[in-house]
Amino acid sequence: MEILRVENIKKSFSGVSVLKNINLSIKSGELHAIVGENGAGKSTLMKIIAGELEPDSGKIYLNGKEVQFHSPLDAINSGIALIHQEFSLVPQLTVYENIFLGREISKSFLGIDFIDRKAMKKEAQNVLKTFGIENIPVNSKIKDLSVANKQLTEIAKALSTNSKILIMDEPTAALTLRETEKLFSILTNLKSNGVTIIFISHRLEEIFQIADSVTILRNGELIATKQINEVSMEEIVSMMIGKSMSNRFPPKPSKKIGDKFFEVRNISSDAFKGINFSLRRGEILGIAGLVGCGNTQVGESIYGLRKFDGEIYFEGKKINISKPTDAIENGIFLVPEDRHDLGLVLQLSVKENHSLPNLDLFSKLGFVSTSTEKKSVKDTIAYLNTKVSSINQIVENLSGGNQQKVVLGKWLVRSPKVLILDEPTRGIDVGAKFEIYKFIYEQSSKGVGIILISSELAEVLNLSDRILVMSEGRITGELDPQNATQEDILRLAVKGKES
Ligand SMILES: Nc1ncnc2c1ncn2[C@@H]1O[C@H](COP(=O)(O)OP(=O)(O)OP(=O)(O)O)[C@@H](O)[C@H]1O
Ligand SMILES: [Mg+2]
Repeated sequence: MEILRVENIKKSFSGVSVLKNINLSIKSGELHAIVGENGAGKSTLMKIIAGELEPDSGKIYLNGKEVQFHSPLDAINSGIALIHQEFSLVPQLTVYENIFLGREISKSFLGIDFIDRKAMKKEAQNVLKTFGIENIPVNSKIKDLSVANKQLTEIAKALSTNSKILIMDEPTAALTLRETEKLFSILTNLKSNGVTIIFISHRLEEIFQIADSVTILRNGELIATKQINEVSMEEIVSMMIGKSMSNRFPPKPSKKIGDKFFEVRNISSDAFKGINFSLRRGEILGIAGLVGCGNTQVGESIYGLRKFDGEIYFEGKKINISKPTDAIENGIFLVPEDRHDLGLVLQLSVKENHSLPNLDLFSKLGFVSTSTEKKSVKDTIAYLNTKVSSINQIVENLSGGNQQKVVLGKWLVRSPKVLILDEPTRGIDVGAKFEIYKFIYEQSSKGVGIILISSELAEVLNLSDRILVMSEGRITGELDPQNATQEDILRLAVKGKES
């Protein structure tokens, strides 16, 4: 039985058509995956279904009746909830305040209405418990939560409205295997309770694991809708990119790994303890681990974003790093995990975001050479195949994956010596992932030492020359990717957590 139908939907932004006549039918109780390259129009289509954007033309039918949503609240009242790709929680408010934002529980006392915080906390706790995530403290401010817990709170919030259709825009991008498995069991549960789920992901393995059907979008067009058991991964990829692609990883370059030039000696902070490792020129060092294991914080410390004890040696000398400029002066760069917090100024253009940290490179005698600047932006966009309408497009309006490419791109131009990449392919489509892997290989072939922090096990195993695994803030083992498996990584990643 069809629950939702989208008919002839069209949408343009300032004259650029991003959805071209979309016709889509969703069956009641199914898990329907939507896939497509970065910028294909997935999020835009979902925002239209959830009442956040109005289409230029076209119709939406819910249970056979035409509906017109003029606000997200209209959609929520009809039982449609959207979980955003980019977090929409209020960072300054607590978990429970976010869950009940806009529908606070109140009580009357002497005829006056008060917000009933006690009831809200209790109810929030129940909501979290239903989804097995009661370890998230309801009193915590969102800004203090890990990326994964932010995502889980966001999901709990949407589910607490009792929606009949739940749209999830890349819910697993910030989750590791364990949380993803947890989420999938929640989804299976919801499905058996009759909830229909629309699910966007760039992790195609997941789609084969949980979807009933899949719709492929390319450049704003709907290419096909298929039952999951009637397509292969290769077919989906070729429909997504419009050509076939035989391998997800580029061939390994033959490169020389040089001398140990970077060393971390016994560094500790509140998030990790006694971390020791060295890095060779041209080496790709994977640091794997589950969310919260401390690998992100190690990267942030080396880049000067957080306080730590211990020593860092670079090219034979001890260096002091207490702020990012200390790291940058030594040629140490970080592409952060949370691009919104650390990586981008959303209200500025692609060009400005690219130039801000690089003005010194584009300046002569104190003047910024706009031609050098423009060339750099354009070359970088072409290199990473970033989809922008122009270099003056505001970053906020880019698709999620293309925002990620802007962050990556701005460091490419600085000829780094040590490049710390924290989840560099989060939210990035298969084609672009391939480009980023090629970039990582190119950089390492040039002698750049790369610290690859990633929760995608296949990525760590394929790219790294050596893998460290962290658990509970400590290094629990070192693996040679030549003869290690995903299970080996996982075993070390849960060490000390077995209880
Ligand atoms: N508010 C906006 N103003 C201008 N252009 C926009 C706006 N929102 C989206 N776009 C453009 O529409 C296109 C589709 O974007 P959308 O976010 O739907 O892509 P997506 O398929 O979700 O990609 P990703 O996988 O990277 O998240 C992109 O080219 C994007 O730049
Ligand atoms: Mg998107």
